[in-house]
Amino acid sequence: MPSGDASDRGPQGPATQVKEAIDPSGDLSFGSPTPAEGTDLWNLAREAGNLDVNSRYAYLLWCRDFAATSVVARDLRGAVAGFITGYRRPEAPDVYFVWQVAVAPGFRRRGLARTMLDHAVLRMRSNGVRYVETTVTPENKASMRLFESFAEANGADLTRDVLFSERELGSGHESEVLHRIGPFTGPARTLDGPLPD
Ligand SMILES: CC(C)(COP(=O)(O)OP(=O)(O)OC[C@H]1O[C@@H](n2cnc3c(N)ncnc32)[C@H](O)[C@@H]1OP(=O)(O)O)[C@@H](O)C(=O)NCCC(=O)NCCS
Repeated sequence: MPSGDASDRGPQGPATQVKEAIDPSGDLSFGSPTPAEGTDLWNLAREAGNLDVNSRYAYLLWCRDFAATSVVARDLRGAVAGFITGYRRPEAPDVYFVWQVAVAPGFRRRGLARTMLDHAVLRMRSNGVRYVETTVTPENKASMRLFESFAEANGADLTRDVLFSERELGSGHESEVLHRIGPFTGPARTLDGPLPD
């Protein structure tokens, strides 16, 4: 992932406020993005800052072809508050690769990225996924913490190794460090506990 925004521009609050701030109040809903939302994802990717923003076309296509492995959070008006795009690696289908995570500035530090990741991975685990991979640039403290926190909550190992070097990426891009989390064992957990059978 490109360098993240480690600034605290959103409402403040510890992760323990996740349930109060998001789920029980019902002020956000979670689902798969539709192609009609591709432009919203593209706009949020540009607004979020520090992401490698791809073409508008790429987000439209992603929302058509990778909707099942992506998550969008919408507010009560239907506006996109955050998204995760990801895919199952074709050569290793037990690996869910998280491509981009973005949360709108006004929704940060409320546990939204963690909640979206939980939603995405719960869905993937029921389809045989045992590992989560992503890449993070070394200066992206927010993203680094997001995946550490996720690994801790799931009792899973987290390993790090450079996937693409600065030389490979060029144009002054920081290295992309592969984070690999897993294998997941035991029942998948929701915010409120284990998933029912
Ligand atoms: C990275 C990003 C998605 C995090 O979203 P968020 O909803 O604010 O994150 P959460 O509230 O779910 O926090 C998850 C964990 O990261 C920590 N965290 C979040 N923002 C942080 C920051 N700026 N600095 C340090 N830690 C941070 C939280 O405290 C939490 O850790 P905890 O579980 O130990 O309490 C958001 O900052 C963003 O969109 N940044 C710009 C785009 C980007 O860099 N994306 C990632 C690379 S693709």
